[in-house]
Amino acid sequence: TRVGVFFGGVSVEHEVSVISALQAMQAMDQQRYEPVPVYIAKDRTWYTGDVLFNIENFKDLKQLLQDAQKITAAKGEEGAVLLQKDPQPKFGKKTAAEIDFALPVVHGTFGEDGVLQGMFELYDLPYAGCDVTASAAGMDKVKMKQVLRDQKVPVLPEVWLYTSDWAENREGWLEQMESIAGYPAIVKPANLGSSVGIGTASNRAELEDAVEEAFQFTTKVIVEPMIQNMREVNCSVLGDYESAAPSVIEEVLKTEEILSYQDKYQGGGGAKDGGSADPQKGGSSGGMENTDRIIPAEIAEEKRETVEDLAVRTFKALGCNGVSRVDIMMDEDTGQVYVNEINTIPGSLSFYLWEPAGKDFTQLTHELIQLGLK
Ligand code: DAL
Ligand code: MG
Repeated sequence: TRVGVFFGGVSVEHEVSVISALQAMQAMDQQRYEPVPVYIAKDRTWYTGDVLFNIENFKDLKQLLQDAQKITAAKGEEGAVLLQKDPQPKFGKKTAAEIDFALPVVHGTFGEDGVLQGMFELYDLPYAGCDVTASAAGMDKVKMKQVLRDQKVPVLPEVWLYTSDWAENREGWLEQMESIAGYPAIVKPANLGSSVGIGTASNRAELEDAVEEAFQFTTKVIVEPMIQNMREVNCSVLGDYESAAPSVIEEVLKTEEILSYQDKYQGGGGAKDGGSADPQKGGSSGGMENTDRIIPAEIAEEKRETVEDLAVRTFKALGCNGVSRVDIMMDEDTGQVYVNEINTIPGSLSFYLWEPAGKDFTQLTHELIQLGLK
């Protein structure tokens, strides 16, 4: 089976996607599958061809991330540093006919939100992961919460608004945010990943600034209460509606008040040296993020069951397929647990959460592909 591995993309998570996809291609069982890289450059040029990327670099994820940033920061022709440019670089029927299956590993906008999935549907190309509806609902934090609330999955209350709402009645919205979210509040673009544009506020001036800032990145913003004494745990789910099963749980440790893009991917912005990004050093078992994490999370048995249950219910409520990662907040003061978000194309496809239970990345890609072919 020729598996087109789609990666890159136009979102802020472009570089993360390069790493996730290269990891997936390297892991794929070459006896069964022939990975065909399909790289979407930031300027939306599509490339395919042989991967020239030095796979040896996987030993040093930090270096790999730097290389990926260098390469993908370059435009046009220089994309060929990563992939040999196809003689007919435009993705079209011909290229589509040369793959039998699509494995989308594009995070965020146009990759994780149903857009790419819609294109696969149009080409009648079987693909891994969530369908258009599940992807779209999972990407939009507001829609996701509406679906989850409907299924009695606990989520925090929120205020959401579009740019035009904000322009029309700033004071009114600020009042509503104060009454529903209170302080401290957390402000996010409703539909971006990797913590881009996220801010916190402990008074009205900060709230106004944070909302302004979030609107720099998107047209829809969501404001929620910020849990002060919070632990964040993530649980991956693999399968389809019938077979959905939870992975080992990880606890994500933060070096700042909120987990920033810096924290996640660039070594904690001057805090700890992000040593856990190096799979050789233990801690993380090879996720591409630089965040410190504990796997398995050290939480009480009862909490573990709750988290697993919420993760699976979230996956099913949204109608997911393949591998997702559900991010969950534990309020240490009240004991309450809330679903924060779902990543339907998680970083590194969450392989490091399956490894501890004996499912390696090769097996994970195999199951993902098989689920997509079902
Ligand atoms: N959105 C990134 C890739 C993640 O949370 O895994
Ligand atoms: Mg996330």
